[in-house]
Amino acid sequence: MNVLGISGSPRRGKTTDQLVQHVLAAAGHESEFISLAGKQIGPCSACMACVKDNICKINDDMGLLREKILAADGLVIGAPNYFSALNALSHCFLERLCQFRHRDGLALAGKHAVIVSTGGIEPEIPAAMIEKMLPYYQIHHVGTVTAQGAASCFTCGQGETCSTGAVRMLCGEGVKITDDLIPDLSKQPDKIAVARDLGQKLGKILGTAI
Ligand SMILES: Cc1cc2nc3c(=O)[nH]c(=O)nc-3n(C[C@H](O)[C@H](O)[C@H](O)COP(=O)(O)O)c2cc1C
Repeated sequence: MNVLGISGSPRRGKTTDQLVQHVLAAAGHESEFISLAGKQIGPCSACMACVKDNICKINDDMGLLREKILAADGLVIGAPNYFSALNALSHCFLERLCQFRHRDGLALAGKHAVIVSTGGIEPEIPAAMIEKMLPYYQIHHVGTVTAQGAASCFTCGQGETCSTGAVRMLCGEGVKITDDLIPDLSKQPDKIAVARDLGQKLGKILGTAI
C-alpha cells in the first residue's frame, strides 16, 4: 500500500507541508510527499478531451502527478487558505482531477484521503472545500486536520504598522512582532497529535504496514 501526500502551498517547508508530512510519517506505509510549489498546474479548461480516456490533454506538470495519484491507495491533500478560499494552485490541482471523473467517475473510487487545511486566521476553510470534492470521486474521507500558519504579514517588514494586514487583525494595533507571537506548527502540539492520529488511522485502514 502506498500513500501520496500533496501540499498545495507555494511556501516550501511551512505549515501545510509540515502537517502533510506528519500524517505521512504516522501512516507507516510506503509514502511520497509532493509539493506543488514551483509546479506549473493550470486550471481545467473544460475542453472535455479527457472524457474518452480519463487523460487530461493540457501539457503541464499535472501530467507528472497523474500516474502517482492513480497508483496511491491513500491520499493526503493539503491546502492553505488564501482570501477565504483554497489557494489557486491547490484549486487548479483539484480541478484537474476532473480527468478521473468521466464514465461513472470510478478511477479514484475506493481511495482513502486525509485532508490538511491551514490558514493564518481561518484554517478550516480549505478543508470544507476539499471535503465537498471527495464524493465526486467516491474517495473515502478519513478525517481532517487544521492548523494556524504564519501569515506573510508577520515577516513582510510592514506588519507592525500596516492597518489592513493579518498582524493587526490577529493581535491588534501597536503590537511588536516577536518570535513568540508568530504562529508556528511547533507551538500547536495538539494539531501535530491530530495529524499523527489521522496518519495512524489511515495506515490501519490501508492494512498491515510494510
Ligand atoms: C495571498 C494570501 C492570502 C491569504 N489570505 C488568507 C485568508 O483569507 N484567511 C486566512 O486565514 N489566511 C490567509 N492567508 C494566510 C495563509 O493561509 C497562511 O499563511 C498559511 O499558513 C499558509 O500556508 P503555509 O504556511 O503552508 O504556506 C493568506 C496568505 C496569502 C499569501
